[in-house]
Amino acid sequence: MQTSETPSDKSLLEIVEAVGQEIEAATVSSEAEAEAFRVRYLGQRSGIVTKLFKRIREVPPEDRREAGQRLNALKKLAEARLEAARNHLRQDQRPEQAAIDLTLPGRRPTPTGSTHLITQTLHDITRIFERLGFTVADGPEIEDDWHNFTALNFPPDHPARDMQDTLFIEAPANDGSGGVMLRTHTSPVQIRVMEANDPPFRLIAPGRVYRNETITYKSYCLFYQVEGLVVDEGVTMADLKHVLYTFARTFFGDEVTLRFRPSFFPFTEPSAEVDIWWPLPDHPKGGRWMEILGSGMVDPNVLEAVGIDAERYTGYAFGMGVERPAMLRYGIDDIRLFYENDVRFLDQF
Ligand code: PHE
Repeated sequence: MQTSETPSDKSLLEIVEAVGQEIEAATVSSEAEAEAFRVRYLGQRSGIVTKLFKRIREVPPEDRREAGQRLNALKKLAEARLEAARNHLRQDQRPEQAAIDLTLPGRRPTPTGSTHLITQTLHDITRIFERLGFTVADGPEIEDDWHNFTALNFPPDHPARDMQDTLFIEAPANDGSGGVMLRTHTSPVQIRVMEANDPPFRLIAPGRVYRNETITYKSYCLFYQVEGLVVDEGVTMADLKHVLYTFARTFFGDEVTLRFRPSFFPFTEPSAEVDIWWPLPDHPKGGRWMEILGSGMVDPNVLEAVGIDAERYTGYAFGMGVERPAMLRYGIDDIRLFYENDVRFLDQF
């Protein structure tokens, strides 16, 4: 290198200038080159800059001050270049960290799921009945003829046993008896609980039921019901009405109007269906009645079938749909929306 053998006839300031240019132009692309750079310019014993400091004596006294400042600047330049080169090398060794762009906006959190509207509605209904002293019971979705039909006082030739309504897993005998099926209602849970326990009973049984229905905007091949069963001494139809009114007022609001309409179920006597008045501004009659549940006093034949003394105990039962109340409450006009799992629908609730 020329500068290290700088002829002494060149003034110190000229040398400082030349070394400065050399430092600016130097390339450092490895740790070894960085160390060589350090030794060459800043080395304790023979670094070029270190040695130049020793030559300050040769400068005439009146110029020493300026020479000292220029030398200090040169030393600073060499140190800054070395530090910059080392930082750069360090970043190259951590490419994954060097790739982080701190100016990028944050990532959206992954979307989380939420409770399905049917589940929410089931929870709401369950909570209301729990406050009224009901416990929650459960039963299988695959049932046999005894629990789904026979113990519930369905005669062998009842039309509901027909293949049209029931989804069978094992076909019944030719006379219509037997078979294994997807339960068509939650009432078999009544039988299972009463067979396994002694009265009194005060329970609900929420769950999924299946029917061989044509699928339309208002009916689906599966849906949810909440069964209710109360059996004790001295239970009357007035208790049934009171509980259902209390439920409806809590679920739909105090203004709700209900209608008990005489009906028939094999397992209740007398039986009533309950309709709710649904105001519709555009409707010629200002609204319409919508059926929300079936109910009645437990038929003594059912109590006898599970070995309960029907002279001593009476009871009531009800079975309400879950989709229909949810549709009324949230203004949903097609039951199929509940089962399509379209996120645009589910997201709204
Ligand atoms: N199980 C009946 C149905 O599915 C409803 C019901 C339950 C009616 C209990 C009366 C008593 O339609």
